[in-house]
Amino acid sequence: MNKVKMILDCDTGHDDAIALMLACGNLDIELLGVTCVAGNAGLQHTVPNTLHVVQHLNLPVKVYAGCDRPIVKEQVVADDVHGKSGLDGPVFEPLTISAEQEHAVNFIVRTIMESDGDVVLVPTGPLTNIAMAMRMEPRIVKKIRHISLMGGSLDLGNTTPAAEFNIYVDPEAADIVFRSGVEMNMMGLNLTNRVLATPQIIARMRNIGNKAGNLFADIMSFTLHSQAVNGLSAGPVHDVTAVAYLVAPQLFRMQQMHVEIDISHGPCYGRTVCDIYDRFHLPKNVNVGMDTDLEGFWNLVEQALRNLD
Ligand code: BDR
Ligand code: CA
Repeated sequence: MNKVKMILDCDTGHDDAIALMLACGNLDIELLGVTCVAGNAGLQHTVPNTLHVVQHLNLPVKVYAGCDRPIVKEQVVADDVHGKSGLDGPVFEPLTISAEQEHAVNFIVRTIMESDGDVVLVPTGPLTNIAMAMRMEPRIVKKIRHISLMGGSLDLGNTTPAAEFNIYVDPEAADIVFRSGVEMNMMGLNLTNRVLATPQIIARMRNIGNKAGNLFADIMSFTLHSQAVNGLSAGPVHDVTAVAYLVAPQLFRMQQMHVEIDISHGPCYGRTVCDIYDRFHLPKNVNVGMDTDLEGFWNLVEQALRNLD
């Protein structure tokens, strides 16, 4: 199998950090770069958070700073879930590396324009950088191989009753991306809220006995308290599913349907409206994640962590 060439666009973030570890540790992925966006915390946090993970695990990848606010909306962060820094919990050494000079949006445009049309984008935060890249250089749209994103939901939201965080932060950006015509899959809360780092999973990863396993455990231990889902003390690793799908699609049950973003300013602002019963008879533009094989998923994550330092 040819390696999947991907750019990770993230707002690190506990689960974003694990997604980065999977992208670097999986042998079927070639990570071309990591671009950061404001989301879980401001860009002044998401960039250093990403750099901390890269430095701590000695990951061979460059980091680019992107947009520091949504295109239209006022900024919203998720400090209730991820803490003030966006990655509260693990303790890192002082940073000795820094982000590249090139802006993330320029990096995305340049990388895709110079490619053979084989680059996949994996956004795990608000879609600001991706939408800006599409507006800045519309020719990239036809050259993007695929978008595998975490965001939205088939049903309810986690930030408002209707909207999931990544989409709610920048609905106008999401609207641009979902209407772009690029082939895409969406891993939403209906799926990702079931992919939980339980205390047993955390112990299993710590047991690997290397830096990556310990970092997984330190990171996800924080979410045991901040992100209990349905009363369960366990943190969802939402973003990791978007990376996993690229190299192990057989682990996921997907369904193709029409999805659009509600950008009206009512109570459903930021909702991913999923036409699962094909009521609108519109083109099925998104492959939506419905379910996953949890055992296969955690085996994939464990193997990637074992491949790291
Ligand atoms: C998404 O929002 C963020 O808090 C997580 O990192 C994930 O990308 C889940 O709604
Ligand atoms: Ca994220």
